Amino acid sequence: MSSWREIIEQELVNCLPESDNKDVQKLIGSMKYSLTAGGKRVRPMIVVEFAKLCGGTEQAALPFACALEMIHTYSLIHDDLPCMDNDDLRRGKPTNHKVYGEATALLAGNGLLTHSFGVALSEKAVSLNGYEKCVKAARVLADYAGADGMLGGQMIDLESEGKTVTADHLKVMDNKKTGALMIAAAKLGCISAGADETKIAAAEKYAENIGLTFQIVDDMLDITSTTEELGKPVGSDDENMKSTYPALLGLDKCRELSRELTEEAVSSLSAFEGDTSALKDFAYYLLNREK
Ligand code: IPE
Ligand code: IPE
Ligand code: MG
Ligand code: MG
Ligand code: MG
Repeated sequence: MSSWREIIEQELVNCLPESDNKDVQKLIGSMKYSLTAGGKRVRPMIVVEFAKLCGGTEQAALPFACALEMIHTYSLIHDDLPCMDNDDLRRGKPTNHKVYGEATALLAGNGLLTHSFGVALSEKAVSLNGYEKCVKAARVLADYAGADGMLGGQMIDLESEGKTVTADHLKVMDNKKTGALMIAAAKLGCISAGADETKIAAAEKYAENIGLTFQIVDDMLDITSTTEELGKPVGSDDENMKSTYPALLGLDKCRELSRELTEEAVSSLSAFEGDTSALKDFAYYLLNREK
């Protein structure tokens, strides 16, 4: 039996497009470089755990999990570009644009975004989930990755550089830039399993709270951790004059707030009849993570 980690890593590689044109192969190579550079695979994990909790299977949820991880990876490639956060290290390796150049990195991000819809609507996804669920999944990917989701959050992030903003403003920004893909993950798992609206709403609540926690912890680690441990440059937020929770509230308040949000997330799991221990443990892992 392969471990969860081996399964998702293998499936991600299998999902990549192929070409016999050598220039296109360079593009696909750059997509693969970032996609297989590691990463915690948090979002695929959420997809699969909600699918299992709602009576679905890991196998059927996997194409949706891969599609979402492709979108997440694209968001990181573009987030690191000189015109955005201008970072040189990601997942312990030089960022995509450092290896392939800015133009190819731009296309690699676009390639992963576009291909993610191909994966969610692939023959394999359709044969495992049926057309209706695949169409719903594609809609979720579009909505939560789009202008009023992750991308909108990234826009607010850029517009907030060097400004003093309120905690409410940060909440809206983080819910979009990071929470949106976490909510998408929870919904994709529920959709694959055919969960009802009550369960989808509870899953959404869980994901919203762990999403906000996730970004607060990310912002704290940018201050307290090391580049070696994180595999990405620390001090990046300070350098870019980012508006973050730690900058506004200080580290102690952030620790308190992230604990409260995690407890809130865990309490949403009471809406489910099955064994919620994996998602409960996962919420605490995300709270206490050191990378
Ligand atoms: C980084 O996400 C971007 C944020 C939303 C903070 P992850 O911390 O999940 O990055 P990987 O996938 O593990 O590299
Ligand atoms: C990025 O937030 C969130 C995305 C949507 C990519 P950050 O800019 O804080 O993420 P890191 O710290 O570079 O991973
Ligand atoms: Mg950023
Ligand atoms: Mg960044
Ligand atoms: Mg960060």
